[in-house]
Amino acid sequence: MDRTFVMVKPDGVQRGLVGEIVSRFEAKGLKLVGAKLELLPEERVVEQYREHLEKPFFPGLKAYIMSGPCFLMAWEGKGVAAVVRRMVGATNPAEAEPGSIRGDFALDIGRNVIHASDSPESAARELGIHFAPGELVDYSRIDEPVLYE
Ligand code: RTP
Ligand code: MG
Repeated sequence: MDRTFVMVKPDGVQRGLVGEIVSRFEAKGLKLVGAKLELLPEERVVEQYREHLEKPFFPGLKAYIMSGPCFLMAWEGKGVAAVVRRMVGATNPAEAEPGSIRGDFALDIGRNVIHASDSPESAARELGIHFAPGELVDYSRIDEPVLYE
C-alpha cells in the first residue's frame, strides 16, 4: 500500500493543531503507520528541502522549521500522496481552498502549518530521511474491509 510523509510544522505544533490535523487524516480513512515529535537537526532539514537550497526564502524556511518541535508522520492508503496534498491545500494559504488544512488554519506562506510530500517518489525519499525502517508499523485497521472496494 502507498505511504507518504507528512509533518506538522512548528507553528502548527505551537498552535495546538496536531490533534485536528491527525483527526482529518484518520477520518478520511488513512492509516497512521509512524509518528514522532522532534526538533529536527539542520542536516535533515537541508536534505528534506534540498530542491530549495538556492532559493531566496531558504534561510528563513530553515530557521522556521528548526524554531521548535515538528510532528512527523507516515500515512498509508490508496493514492495517499496525492490525497494528502489535496487535503493540505495550496502552498500559499491565501490561495488555499476553504476546507483544506492551509485554507482553514493559515494565512502566511512562511507559516503554512504543514508539510506533505509532493509525489510518491518524494514520499519514499522523505520517509527515508526521517524514519528508520523499524519506526514504521505494519498493522490492519478494523475498518479496512469497508474502506476499499
Ligand atoms: P512543503 O514542501 O513544505 O510541503 O510545501 P509545498 O510543497 O507546498 O511548497 P514548496 O514549494 O515545496 O515550498 C516549501 C516551503 O517553503 C516555504 N516557502 N516560502 N516565501 C516564499 O516565497 C516561500 N515559498 C515557499 C513554505 O513554507 C513552503 O511550504
Ligand atoms: Mg514541497
